[in-house]
Amino acid sequence: MSDAVRARVEALRREIRRHEHLYYVVAKPEIGDLEFDRLLRELRALEEAHPDLVTRDSPTQRVGGAPVADLPQVRHAAPMLSLDNSYNEGELEEWLGRVRRGLGREPSGLVAELKIDGVSLSLTYERGVLARAVTRGNGEVGEDVTGNARTVRSLPLALPDALPLVEVRGEVYLPREVFKGLNRARKEEGEDPFANPRNAAAGSIRLLDPRECGRRRLAFFAYQVPRWEGTSFARHSEALERLAAWGFAVNPGWRRCATMAEVHGFIAEWGARRADLPFDIDGAVVKLDDLEEQRLVGATAKFPRWAVAYKYPPPGERTRVRGIVVQVGRTGALTPVAELEPVLLAGSTVARATLHNADEVARLDVRVGDVVWVAKGGDVIPKVVAVDPEGRGPGSEPFRMPERCPACATPVVREEGEVALRCPNRECPAVRRQRLFHFVARAGMDIEGLGKRLVEQLLNEGLVGDPASLWDLDRERLAALPHWGETSAENVVNEIAAARTRPLWRLLAALGIRHVGERAAKVLASRFGSLAAIAGAAAGELEQVEGIGPVIAASVVAFFGDEEGAALVRRLRERGVDPHEEAAPAAARAPLAGLTFVLTGSLSRPREDVAAMLEGGGARVTDAVSRRTSYVVAGEDAGSKLARARDLSVPVLDEVELRRLLAEKGVEW
Ligand code: IVH
Repeated sequence: MSDAVRARVEALRREIRRHEHLYYVVAKPEIGDLEFDRLLRELRALEEAHPDLVTRDSPTQRVGGAPVADLPQVRHAAPMLSLDNSYNEGELEEWLGRVRRGLGREPSGLVAELKIDGVSLSLTYERGVLARAVTRGNGEVGEDVTGNARTVRSLPLALPDALPLVEVRGEVYLPREVFKGLNRARKEEGEDPFANPRNAAAGSIRLLDPRECGRRRLAFFAYQVPRWEGTSFARHSEALERLAAWGFAVNPGWRRCATMAEVHGFIAEWGARRADLPFDIDGAVVKLDDLEEQRLVGATAKFPRWAVAYKYPPPGERTRVRGIVVQVGRTGALTPVAELEPVLLAGSTVARATLHNADEVARLDVRVGDVVWVAKGGDVIPKVVAVDPEGRGPGSEPFRMPERCPACATPVVREEGEVALRCPNRECPAVRRQRLFHFVARAGMDIEGLGKRLVEQLLNEGLVGDPASLWDLDRERLAALPHWGETSAENVVNEIAAARTRPLWRLLAALGIRHVGERAAKVLASRFGSLAAIAGAAAGELEQVEGIGPVIAASVVAFFGDEEGAALVRRLRERGVDPHEEAAPAAARAPLAGLTFVLTGSLSRPREDVAAMLEGGGARVTDAVSRRTSYVVAGEDAGSKLARARDLSVPVLDEVELRRLLAEKGVEW
């Protein structure tokens, strides 16, 4: 192969790395997304033509390799400790006092940093190339997540100097906006949302499929260089400067402080700006700057003595936990909920707050009787954010999740790779109740006038059971119930009757099949045309549908596959609830079937014309860019949709490329 090709490949990599750094680390991009994509595509094409030129540190390797069966365990060269906490100025002074005693003198300088609320990760670079990324694990042994770490754009795959060995530690986190988007998408897709950005980051970095990890848009801040060969540092601050020079995003805002008074200034300043940061912090970290002094004071079994965390008081209000109950949701997921002494929080009285799942309860170690802070999350659902260690009485016991479903006593199960415990019993009264709530709710059949309270009453009276039984309700029996009257009974019966004509996707989404939210329901409805056809489809057939993967397919098959599922379809049909849609042609017939386009910016023809032409070819044209978008077509002056496409790694076409694609598919422009 010619030297020219090799030189071009190297030049492209340099250029791409520079732009990645400008975009993801410095947040000052110099070129647009189209131009960036073009560089990456040129590099990819050259590497495909010359596979021997592919290197582990090439920017093309960020897309994520093949899924792995498990995450191998790796022993850390030096244990990954945690930090001792302090909560006020006095406790920080005490830490400094211990340092002074250990050194026999005043430390020569301090560094104050933000304490990023994510999960720690150790990166090992060998001869300048990222060789291994390992989670903290139990501190001694962690898990090898190298494939996932490669997809994190704010950490370099290669260092500029080919040093024999460098270990970098830092925090993997999810920026708040990315977290919100991720949870929105999960809800849409019928999946359980993550409790908070830290939880989401912890789950994402341990995924078995690096491609999926790449879609999560994790970010990384480096905060320590615990090992090196071929270079050396005398001070922690030097290491931070070098990390930045190597291309890492470094814990922002870090500051050298000569005195504790300066540290307090740092803490107060960032405490006030905390809410405006694009990521969560839970405090500050104060470290000795001189690495020799760090070595001299050493570490206990758990904490280094050369650093201490200062924890900000959590946002929200304090109150007491009266009890912890466990609710069973419509998918059978068990959610622990704290019952609180009522407290006024952002304008409303709060008496209950979610504790999300067993992992979160264990992390918070919240117990009945504890004093806790509650705050409203981004989704306005009150959550317990922290326990006040001072408020705990003697004799309190850690809370344990039940081993049996609190509603039906079936032993609960925890599925592989999931945090939620579930009641596996489909007949569980709590699951059936929640299913029915969901069936009539806005995200389901949207039956006006049938709120939770009424459904509850109907269930208690034994008038309804499964969703189909709603159509058996009659006016007289309803009108005779306590608090009902002729008019309300008539209205509800009419609303239920009218719901027979809801579109098929609504009926499907209303059934509450796991992973089948609005999006999946819509594609299944338009491909199969009737509930019976969907219920009768084999997993393989379902997976043929664009956007339906093995997880959704298996869930649909499990729902309809047994006698109860089949009976539900039959019972609905017998009651005239059997919406049909014209089934879309199978993927092979329409040339663009299964593809979803988003158009943005100005094109040479009116956008509606381009959209009509694409739809004529069987494609879907939508307004919002999501992970499911096949292509974003960007014209002149494309804006935020283009940026979002890039964030989600959705391929971007300009008009010329679109024409080329259409020509290949035989669609006339
Ligand atoms: S230094 C003891 N610096 O906080 C190991 N840690 O609560 C030295 N963390 O496990 C850690 N921001 O994951 C350090 N600027 C920062 C940090 C930080 C977040 C995490 C880290 C550690 C945990 C301890």
